Amino acid sequence: MQDVTNLPFMRVMQRYGGPDYYVTEYFRVHADYTLEKKILCSITENETGRPVYAQLIGQDIEALVRVAGELQAYPVAGIDLNLGCPAPVVCRKDAGGGLLRKLDHMEAIIAALRDAIPGKFTVKTRVGYDSHHEFAKLLEIFQRHAIDTLTIHGRTVTERYQTPIHPECIRMAVEQMQCPVIANGNVVDVQTGLGALRQTGADGLMIGRGAIRNPWIFDQLRASFSGEPVAKVSRSDLLGYIEHLYQEIAAHADDFDPGKHVNRMKKYMLYIVQGIDEDFEHYIRRAKTPEDFHRVCRDFLDHADPLPDRPPEKSKLFCGFDALR
Ligand SMILES: Cc1cc2nc3c(=O)[nH]c(=O)nc-3n(C[C@H](O)[C@H](O)[C@H](O)COP(=O)(O)O)c2cc1C
Repeated sequence: MQDVTNLPFMRVMQRYGGPDYYVTEYFRVHADYTLEKKILCSITENETGRPVYAQLIGQDIEALVRVAGELQAYPVAGIDLNLGCPAPVVCRKDAGGGLLRKLDHMEAIIAALRDAIPGKFTVKTRVGYDSHHEFAKLLEIFQRHAIDTLTIHGRTVTERYQTPIHPECIRMAVEQMQCPVIANGNVVDVQTGLGALRQTGADGLMIGRGAIRNPWIFDQLRASFSGEPVAKVSRSDLLGYIEHLYQEIAAHADDFDPGKHVNRMKKYMLYIVQGIDEDFEHYIRRAKTPEDFHRVCRDFLDHADPLPDRPPEKSKLFCGFDALR
């Protein structure tokens, strides 16, 4: 995820168990693009012990093929193509989710990348641009190319992030694709993870926002799959996680500035505070110095009460996950 799943974030996730593999923030490829160090380091300095895929976004075929080739020189597990980003600035340029409106061009990109990538080539898509009824057409295209994994964020581009997903589309892909299909969208705890697998039949789960809020989610799901007890998390555990994140991101910054750092932390905190006291978000938003920031976190989290498993169903940044339970 842009500005989130960077190297320090991956390091912190790994302390809590981490996913089976990581995907970088996207490299936003265009004709004169050169690989950005800030993203590349999550490949070259990845010491999580888990594979990392490099994600590309763009619409210039020649440039995408060139950059995919350049990335082969680094220890990537594979190359992933982003067909889901809904940001207007991206879609206007017919990249990311915008490619779901330009099927011929999307297919030409997939074909060219497949030809150019000797190792794993994976695709991350949404289920359509305006409507999930577009998905059957997309699937026909994905089936024509030997992609290695298809990850489906089960919303359309216009649905952005705040609706239930369309599990039936993911199920259709599971039935029709030769490769593994990974379900993505709205997994926020073990129950919604199990629900997503049950409703889609997918081979695995990709978790985004839910992992920012609850980095224990990967190990909690693993425990649940193997019939072991699922560890409960307390407020003081969450405080420890926030402190790790704070330190790891600060240690990675080459321009450390305390005020800027507090603001950087707020990007993560907006997900973390959901479902904890309303005042927590209020005070975090107003924190300006590291002292304010740590004091507010300690005031709300420095005790052993258990955390709620899920954020509220209609919180600002999580929505529609109840349909997976
Ligand atoms: C802040 C933010 C940044 C994101 N950046 C990316 C990205 O770079 N590449 C990508 O494939 N998806 C990106 N996504 C989408 C997520 O990977 C995921 O598909 C979506 O949030 C739904 O899954 P979730 O409910 O588990 O978060 C981003 C989402 C958010 C909220």
